[in-house]
Amino acid sequence: MCGIVGYIGPKNAVPIIMEGLKRLEYRGYDSAGIGCMIKGKLKVWKKEGQLANLEGILPEGLASNIGIGHTRWATHGGVTEANAHPQVGSRGKVSVVHNGIIDNYSALKKKLIGEGVAFTSETDTEALANLAEKFLGAGMAPDRAVRETLKLVSGTYGIVFLFTEHPDLIIGARNGSPLVVGVGDGEMFVASDANAIVRHTRQVVYLDDGETVVLTRDGFRTRDLRDAVVDKQVEEIDWVVEETGKNGYENYMLKEIFEQPEAVGRTFGGRLVPEFGTAKLGGLNLERRDFFDIRRVEIVAMGTAYHAGMIGSFLLESIARVPARAEIASELRCRNPIVEKETLYFVVSQSGETADTLLTLREIRNKGGRVMGVVNMVGSTMARESDGGVYIHAGPEMAVASTKAFTCQLMSFNLIALLFARMRDLSLAEGRALVREIQEIPDKMRRVLDQAEEIARIARKYKNAQSFLYLGRGPNYPVALEGALKLKEIAYIFSEGMSAGDVKHGPIALVSEETPVVMIAVKGDNLDKTISGMMEINARKGRIIVVTNVDDERITRIAEDVIRIPETRESLSPLLTVIPLQLLAYYIAVELQRDVDRPRNLAKSVTVE
Ligand code: G6P
Repeated sequence: MCGIVGYIGPKNAVPIIMEGLKRLEYRGYDSAGIGCMIKGKLKVWKKEGQLANLEGILPEGLASNIGIGHTRWATHGGVTEANAHPQVGSRGKVSVVHNGIIDNYSALKKKLIGEGVAFTSETDTEALANLAEKFLGAGMAPDRAVRETLKLVSGTYGIVFLFTEHPDLIIGARNGSPLVVGVGDGEMFVASDANAIVRHTRQVVYLDDGETVVLTRDGFRTRDLRDAVVDKQVEEIDWVVEETGKNGYENYMLKEIFEQPEAVGRTFGGRLVPEFGTAKLGGLNLERRDFFDIRRVEIVAMGTAYHAGMIGSFLLESIARVPARAEIASELRCRNPIVEKETLYFVVSQSGETADTLLTLREIRNKGGRVMGVVNMVGSTMARESDGGVYIHAGPEMAVASTKAFTCQLMSFNLIALLFARMRDLSLAEGRALVREIQEIPDKMRRVLDQAEEIARIARKYKNAQSFLYLGRGPNYPVALEGALKLKEIAYIFSEGMSAGDVKHGPIALVSEETPVVMIAVKGDNLDKTISGMMEINARKGRIIVVTNVDDERITRIAEDVIRIPETRESLSPLLTVIPLQLLAYYIAVELQRDVDRPRNLAKSVTVE
């Protein structure tokens, strides 16, 4: 979702901001803008669409020592140049870039209009620029004007202000949307994500909610909204800046699909203990004795991460025999969650910033619940605010549609389930066998990826279908949901994932020759029932594409296309079955000439509720 980058210092701010915004591009946006001071005057450029469009209108040789930039994902007001950020106050004295949503902006706006302020955009943000201007006009210093503005605001923000008459400072603030300060030598940076500035400095300060920061070339000062000084630790970013290039692939999504064997290898690397047939997850901060007290597990997440959580709950119940369930975070919050002492909570999130998941984490913790994070982004808000957790080590995921983060989340839950299981009923021998099978997964994933060309052929065959159904059972039911989600996200084709058992209770009415039905049929308890379901679809002339690891004549007889994957136990099978579905969606999207990495209307990390 929206991205923020700001700079003050001796260098030219423009390339630093533009490069920083590019590093946040993957999060999804639909317009971009930059504002900087040139010879005492504020200059702003904004453009709809990709950053390249903005770049195209910047004057050659543009140079400034202070500036702010933004990529916007529309919430209040459509995708227009006027609604892009920076938003500038009516007197041209304050410009603002903002991530988040101001809930009471219409009341604020109405009042300002009553006072004679003219508005030029439909955004909630413009009210903040005008409010700050009003306070400046009343003689307040910029930092006080910002504080007084934010005191009137309810909603979420990661926000950065630039003041035309004070070209020696930038002010930032955070409430519910991340902001990080980069500390340089005689220069300072600010961004919504450390990735945007890590090339320039590894010394960072993460703002917490309710804090403001004043940046000058030589340093920073953090305060709360009551003007009390807040002492902040400068932290060193210790993660490696990974190469975020496409590495010869046509786009990030394909690269990330093909990176999965190495990525899941990183997830379990150093965490398996073959000798004891278990996993070691120090980040959970759980003593062995703590496991006796855990009676239940509840997993909350959104989107793809929720699908991983659903499979996680299956694994915890079936392998570790701990009652577990997964919930869509935003739905759990609707119900005023009942938080129990014996329940261990997990939040799952690639970005670690998704507002719905983060707010649920806070609600549970505020009620005394113990919350673990299954998170990719190191240092993200969820990683910092949870009681412990598992970093999935997927590496940077740039494509908006999540692929390798999903399989790494699955691998993390396999480790968590193994650990729990060995603290309960799973024998040493069974634990060791599971460890061995986990170690074989990367190779088996490679064998699935070897079939990319065949899957591309299937994609060409079905690319013009108007709708798709995806069916699976047990741990592969969420995989069906995930396969359908991928197709919706990047090919914009209506698709439904559902339980292969439930399809006959209504949705089967949708089946006809026109409807490709993707079915997952793997060895295990659910195979026969899945095959019966396949017969039912076949009897209604549905065209069946099967992903399977069994050689069963019943399947080959009725399926139009068969994608074969290596055998593994059912609980590990989602790590393999999802890959053909990712590739199918990918190749259909390519055939339909979609922007695979940056699908319309989507954002990588949704930081609004
Ligand atoms: C957005 C993305 C999805 C993602 C979901 C959860 O909707 O478009 O791809 O699955 O957020 O994101 P998270 O970062 O919490 O995993």
